[in-house]
Amino acid sequence: MVGGLDWFRPKTPPLVGVDISSSSVKVLELSETSKGQYRVERYAIEPLPREAVVDGNIANLDAAAEVLQRAWRRSGSRIKNVAMALPSALVITKKVVVPTGQREEDLELQVESEANQYIPFALDEVNLDFQVLGPAPSGPEECEVLIAASRKDKVEDRVAVAQAAGLKATIMDVESLAALSAMEMIEPQLPGGGKNQLITLVDIGASIMRVAMLTNGQVVYTREQQVGGNQLTQDIQRHFNISQEEAEAAKRNGGLPENYEPDVLQPFVENLGLEIARALQFFFTSTQYNKVDHIVLAGGCATLPGLDEAIASRTRVNVVAANPFLKMAQSSNVKTRQLTADAPSLLVACGLAMRRFAA
Ligand SMILES: Nc1ncnc2c1ncn2[C@@H]1O[C@H](COP(=O)(O)OP(=O)(O)OP(=O)(O)O)[C@@H](O)[C@H]1O
Ligand SMILES: [Mg+2]
Repeated sequence: MVGGLDWFRPKTPPLVGVDISSSSVKVLELSETSKGQYRVERYAIEPLPREAVVDGNIANLDAAAEVLQRAWRRSGSRIKNVAMALPSALVITKKVVVPTGQREEDLELQVESEANQYIPFALDEVNLDFQVLGPAPSGPEECEVLIAASRKDKVEDRVAVAQAAGLKATIMDVESLAALSAMEMIEPQLPGGGKNQLITLVDIGASIMRVAMLTNGQVVYTREQQVGGNQLTQDIQRHFNISQEEAEAAKRNGGLPENYEPDVLQPFVENLGLEIARALQFFFTSTQYNKVDHIVLAGGCATLPGLDEAIASRTRVNVVAANPFLKMAQSSNVKTRQLTADAPSLLVACGLAMRRFAA
């Protein structure tokens, strides 16, 4: 490893997953009851003030640390080691092919020289890590290696947030890769088991909608759009002339006038359905694929009433809300109904918490 923090290294001490995104901090602890069988021990979601995290960048370290500390306390966890993730947009990942059987030091050197070609800043400003994925398609003489690189200051910001909250960042993953590991929990639930199928993961958070096309655990296409729950909150504010806090609370807990659904929610949801149908069309025209088997909805907007139907009717694809915990046991600390409602927004946190058991 070149850069100081263990990004990919398996066999870690107990740790909790910590997802710091634009709207909240999510803390999640899993335990393993037997090999590959997990139990949800505890979790917490704490809202962040606006502008504390902007476009994945920590803009207000103190505010982020305070919220992380509160989330960790509220979760009830006693584990201070945390796995965190950088937003995919801040990380360059690249698959390269290298000869098999090199010594660790030689592999590191080779990764550095490969990275030099792809990374647009000086290597001493970069956190670099790599993971051997397995034999290359060409045969056993070569293997595929995944290189991940990010600017050091981006990694250091998150490490500092953990430290200021009294915790220790022991793993720095990438959000998209963490979500992908959590998807391994979801795929077997899908009709057909997900094998050789094309799965669209749609993550609609507060500010961004991310669409990823997955097949057999690999991402074959991604697309991002600036749309999310913040926009719905703004629509509510404007329409009913209320504050952001009131709009945010009412969106989650109800209490808005009767015309909210037809006049505000429905147009928003219809628009999301349309954007997702468009994303599928773009995907079909720019790749050799022409069919999607399942759409899995993630992010805090996944459970918006009517969204699943709006998407299904525009795309003619089966839509399910992401729940990586469906087959997991749950401790008495966790309420199943609340967990089911929160599950779509806990995908990254789940993938990170699972790093505790990485083989
Ligand atoms: N029960 C709910 N009903 C309606 N909206 C909700 C609900 N729960 C969360 N949201 C909305 O989902 C959004 C937060 O989702 P999520 O936690 O996935 O976002 P994020 O990861 O912080 O954002 P981003 O991915 O854009 O950085 C907020 O806009 C929030 O208002
Ligand atoms: Mg998110």
